[in-house]
Amino acid sequence: MDDSRYALRDFRESDLEPYAALYKAIVRDQPISAATFRAEWELQRGVPNPWPWFSVDERSSHRLVAVAGLVRNLFQADPLRPWIFGDVDPDHVHQGIGTHLYERVLSVAGEGGATGLRCTVRGDHSAALAFLAHRGFVERRRSWVSALDLASADTSALPMLTAKLSHEGIELTTLEREGPERDDVFRGLYDLALVTGGDVPRVGAFTPPTYEEYRRLQLGGPSFHPDSWMLAKEGDRYVGVSSAGTDAADPGVLHQWYTATRSEFRGRKVAETLKLRLIDFARKRGYVRITTANDSLNQPMWSLNQRLGFHKISERIHTEKVFDPVG
Ligand SMILES: CC(C)(COP(=O)(O)OP(=O)(O)OC[C@H]1O[C@@H](n2cnc3c(N)ncnc32)[C@H](O)[C@@H]1OP(=O)(O)O)[C@@H](O)C(=O)NCCC(=O)NCCS
Repeated sequence: MDDSRYALRDFRESDLEPYAALYKAIVRDQPISAATFRAEWELQRGVPNPWPWFSVDERSSHRLVAVAGLVRNLFQADPLRPWIFGDVDPDHVHQGIGTHLYERVLSVAGEGGATGLRCTVRGDHSAALAFLAHRGFVERRRSWVSALDLASADTSALPMLTAKLSHEGIELTTLEREGPERDDVFRGLYDLALVTGGDVPRVGAFTPPTYEEYRRLQLGGPSFHPDSWMLAKEGDRYVGVSSAGTDAADPGVLHQWYTATRSEFRGRKVAETLKLRLIDFARKRGYVRITTANDSLNQPMWSLNQRLGFHKISERIHTEKVFDPVG
């Protein structure tokens, strides 16, 4: 990187808007709004010992041209294996900026005691994959992003499935109806996340967030809509969830977040019914599409999604670099 042309500094709040624009120039078909970046940034600032983020400006224009940093994934939060991210403006690639940022981030990771780094990259971003491969990152997992076009979705089984679950004593509700402000409701959902989270295939082990982190993660940001959280309940206990949210950068799309059924209730069509309810809700609200991302080894979820009409649109590759224990 030419220091006379570019300057590296700490990331700051005012970078969030230009970062969202920069990101959109790279990932045109799945943009992320500044509001979503803000929610993530605030979430990361709130964890103990937050990792730093860095920015690079072009000196002549004072324009933000690159961002990189480390984050803690709250559900696989091995503190010694943080996740690295980095984006360079397409007009400023091949200037050594990515390498410069990477080396800075690598050095703070080492100083912070990290034993390795993890990084997620899109399967069609061959330059990013090559960048990581040259630096010792190897593929650990893949996840598939899939989409359901709501115009062609078939929800005709919903009345029959709703009646079946009702007959079995399972009530269908939403977070909006339950009361998103109620602590007991959120504690029930947290419990469901804890007992099901270990069954989701992922890189590394499932490390549950604290209750406070879980609450902040779910309630954080403008993408949270309690009416798009479909819940199944037996008595006072939540037995299934299928949640979703939005991003202002792509308003026609509802992003499916987490679907899970307590193990003792699996195989009874709880997840299928909740997902069909979400599809029905999304269509009535005028969304065009639902998207979701699932680990390629998550056969139960992938089978269900295919059955509902989801089709694969892109792939994410999860890579890892383990530091040499001697060096
Ligand atoms: C995936 C999961 C939500 C399915 O919940 P469920 O309530 O048991 O699912 P349903 O009973 O509604 O199953 C509906 C359909 O899904 C598919 N399916 C569900 N479990 C399956 C399994 N173990 N193997 C293959 N297909 C499966 C089948 O097509 C099934 O239809 P069928 O019963 O006619 O065969 C559940 O296994 C789970 O909670 N897993 C852990 C959480 C997770 O990985 N979530 C995804 C990350 S967001």
